[in-house]
Amino acid sequence: LPTHYALPSGDKIPAVALGVWRADPGEVGEAVKTALKVGYRHIDGAWIYGNEAEVGQAIKESGIPREDLWLTSKLWNAFHAPEDVEPALDKSLARLGTDYLDLYLIHWPVAFKKGANTEVDHELTENPYPTWQKLEELVEKGKVKNIGVSNFNIRRLQNLTANNLKIKPAVNQVELSYWNPQSELLKWSKENGLLLEAYSPLGSAEKVKESLEVPEVKQIAKDLGLTPAQVYISWHVQRGTVVLPKSVHSARVVENFKVVALPEDALERLERVAASHKPVRTVDPSKRWGLTFGTENFRGR
Ligand code: A2P
Repeated sequence: LPTHYALPSGDKIPAVALGVWRADPGEVGEAVKTALKVGYRHIDGAWIYGNEAEVGQAIKESGIPREDLWLTSKLWNAFHAPEDVEPALDKSLARLGTDYLDLYLIHWPVAFKKGANTEVDHELTENPYPTWQKLEELVEKGKVKNIGVSNFNIRRLQNLTANNLKIKPAVNQVELSYWNPQSELLKWSKENGLLLEAYSPLGSAEKVKESLEVPEVKQIAKDLGLTPAQVYISWHVQRGTVVLPKSVHSARVVENFKVVALPEDALERLERVAASHKPVRTVDPSKRWGLTFGTENFRGR
């Protein structure tokens, strides 16, 4: 199984990251330290998670050289106006205690009006190119090595890349799990040379218990001497995506880092059971923004 994926820049992104969404202050630092100790070199964060300073402190205390780490952060919806992009990045950099990011993503294909909490700027949402151009500038300045998007569906990717981009999105980070396997998006992304990153790969807090009880997954885990979580995480890597499991418990952080190649019949079984139910999003914050989202990420109005 791949331990890294090559991006168009030539950089190699580690296949497994520690996800830190909902890793609360007071516990996220320990989780990051454990992860780095047991071999993770990739931390997937975002400004909106509100924990970048503690993540940065843990990285510093780990003593691991910056160049050995892969750090991702994300531009929040309230900072899509071109003049707000670089200051937003600078805040993340300062909190993380670094002078560059390996990857910076547009967190959602939704721009909020300036100063607004949830009110949508439909013009900038429908045309994210001005925001993207600022991200391209950040690469030219050396503050960011790679840029990408998150929660984009195929229509929105096509809408963005129809512009004459200097730098194409390197990744699209989306919800990918047993509950929402997004086979069509995965196929399209492979055909178009775009790497997917799987967030909520275990079904997030809402669904993880249920995920671990899926009979077919339990059986595969038993046959292979793995835990159900390891089966899911391995499945994601074998599907060719980066995977971002979140945990703040050290035993689970360790458990989730063990990725193994699953036999072909187990993979087929997994794809089949994941496709056998109606897809659902495990968490959908877009509802709070009064927007119509589907299971395949943001559909727009
Ligand atoms: P916790 O942080 O308390 O360990 P996802 O990665 O899909 O977002 O799932 C994260 C959720 O799953 C969190 O609630 C996390 O809880 C829990 N979790 C993470 N790893 C495991 C594991 N190996 N076994 C059971 N639960 C896990």
